[in-house]
Amino acid sequence: MRAIVVSENGGPEVLAYAELPDPEPGPGEVVVDVAASGVNFADIAKRTGRMPEPLPFIPGHEAAGTVSSVGSQVSGVTVGDQVSWAWPGVLGGYAERVAVPAQWIVPLPPQIAPSTAAAVLIQGLTAHYLSHAAYPVRPGDTVLVHAAAGGVGSLLTQLVKLRGGRVIGTVSTAEKEKFARDVGADEVIRYTEVDFAAAVARLTRGAGVAAVFDNVGRTTFDGRCSTPGRPGSAPAPRRGRHQAEISPSTTVPAPTGSTARTRSGFSS
Ligand SMILES: NC(=O)c1ccc[n+]([C@@H]2O[C@H](COP(=O)([O-])OP(=O)(O)OC[C@H]3O[C@@H](n4cnc5c(N)ncnc54)[C@H](OP(=O)(O)O)[C@@H]3O)[C@@H](O)[C@H]2O)c1
Repeated sequence: MRAIVVSENGGPEVLAYAELPDPEPGPGEVVVDVAASGVNFADIAKRTGRMPEPLPFIPGHEAAGTVSSVGSQVSGVTVGDQVSWAWPGVLGGYAERVAVPAQWIVPLPPQIAPSTAAAVLIQGLTAHYLSHAAYPVRPGDTVLVHAAAGGVGSLLTQLVKLRGGRVIGTVSTAEKEKFARDVGADEVIRYTEVDFAAAVARLTRGAGVAAVFDNVGRTTFDGRCSTPGRPGSAPAPRRGRHQAEISPSTTVPAPTGSTARTRSGFSS
């Protein structure tokens, strides 16, 4: 099979095609013929070495396709099934075939294309646990979603709206503002241009928000401490009641044209 292999840490140029033996399913595993693979921050962090991964490796934490062989001790998954998976412990999505533990297989209904599943599973599961478990959004809640036009942010916005919440989103550009509004954000703040904490105070008439979902990190941390609702209180110099941080923060170079910002990495 063909695969994309990382043999040394670095930029995109270290991604190289390789011809490798087809994987065989071990006990409890199935082999999936990959139709589509997701591309995530974790792939980039592992490629650059920011998130250490023994070399060489095939990147790809999520993908979708068709089961082509099934190992022993597997039940409920058969050859020909359309499936997807997303799990930090399973690498190899940037390949034509991957052996995946059957317990991480997600069956795909026929109306979900493999390309959709591979694009949405990690970000969607993350948005789901944030809005349903980290802070179960209640009807009428106003929440702050940083980076609302990003993958997690835009899915989170839609899930909060489905739960009856009001979304104040932050974004960096006019184009992203339009996208965030298109997916349902009620209010959008360009946090590159205005003090978002002050804007949140204005939009909530000083009441603050029920939860802050922070996809960004260092640049938003201080401001978000002052946005959770504490009726009658001054901004608090510590973490609020409901601040769902996606993962530990690590620093990467800022995108061209912006100031250095800290990103969170993929939690595993
Ligand atoms: N389960 C998990 O733990 C889990 C799962 C998925 C993702 N994550 C993490 O969640 C974060 C968001 O992931 P995502 O998939 O939504 O990413 P994405 O689609 O690329 O969106 C990230 C957004 O973050 C904003 N941003 C702020 N500072 C940035 C910087 N220095 N570089 C790049 N973007 C920056 C950008 O929006 P603006 O331009 O509007 O600022 C961008 O649209 C990542 O840190 C990722 O590792 C964690």
